[in-house]
Amino acid sequence: MQKAAPAAAPIHELIRNRWSPRAFNDKLIPAAVLRSLFEAARWAPSSSNEQPWTFIVATRDDQENFDKILGTLVEFNAGWARHSAALAIAVSKLNFEKGNPNRNAFYDTGAASVLLTLEAVGQGLVTHQMAGFDPQKAKEVFGIPDGFEPIAAIAIGYPGDPNSLPDKLRERELAPRTRKPVSDFVMTGHWGHTASFAAQ
Ligand SMILES: Cc1cc2nc3c(=O)[nH]c(=O)nc-3n(C[C@H](O)[C@H](O)[C@H](O)COP(=O)(O)O)c2cc1C
Repeated sequence: MQKAAPAAAPIHELIRNRWSPRAFNDKLIPAAVLRSLFEAARWAPSSSNEQPWTFIVATRDDQENFDKILGTLVEFNAGWARHSAALAIAVSKLNFEKGNPNRNAFYDTGAASVLLTLEAVGQGLVTHQMAGFDPQKAKEVFGIPDGFEPIAAIAIGYPGDPNSLPDKLRERELAPRTRKPVSDFVMTGHWGHTASFAAQ
């Protein structure tokens, strides 16, 4: 199933077609394709080119490690994400190599995750990012050292049939996609002043 964004101005097809479904097909992701997703993440921009991201990844056929990530998810997410082909946890390094705090570490990790997601869409895959997981548990289960923070979990897979979902999730899967208008968040000159090109 596709669910293209009803965009109010022309945007790239990859962006229009990206969305966060909860229905996944059984198919596993070839290793070479997985490699491309993380290669895309690798080329994200970052403050001082610090590249503060790490991804802990497990494919569904690696049951032990897949279950370790699955076990960190809140129940709601685990219910649908267990059908994904791969799970990941995006982790940020909190300090620069020099030791001073990197206040953009989360931002850069998000940028890498978005590039991974766009590459996934280009490869016919979908991703669904999740804040609903236990970062402390992830630190314990994977031995993530101090100075690194788990930021979000990501389910990755080939898109599935919404009819495979329980009723409530199917409804959400089929619901229209909504966004604030651009005029709400593009300002100029002073806080609260909408830029003229962004006015509706
Ligand atoms: C950082 C982040 C955390 C999210 N956490 C969850 C989550 O825990 N569970 C969930 O079902 N969806 C989660 N989502 C998905 C959002 O709900 C979704 O991106 C948003 O509703 C917009 O829909 P779209 O991605 O299909 O455009 C998360 C997305 C992001 C980026």
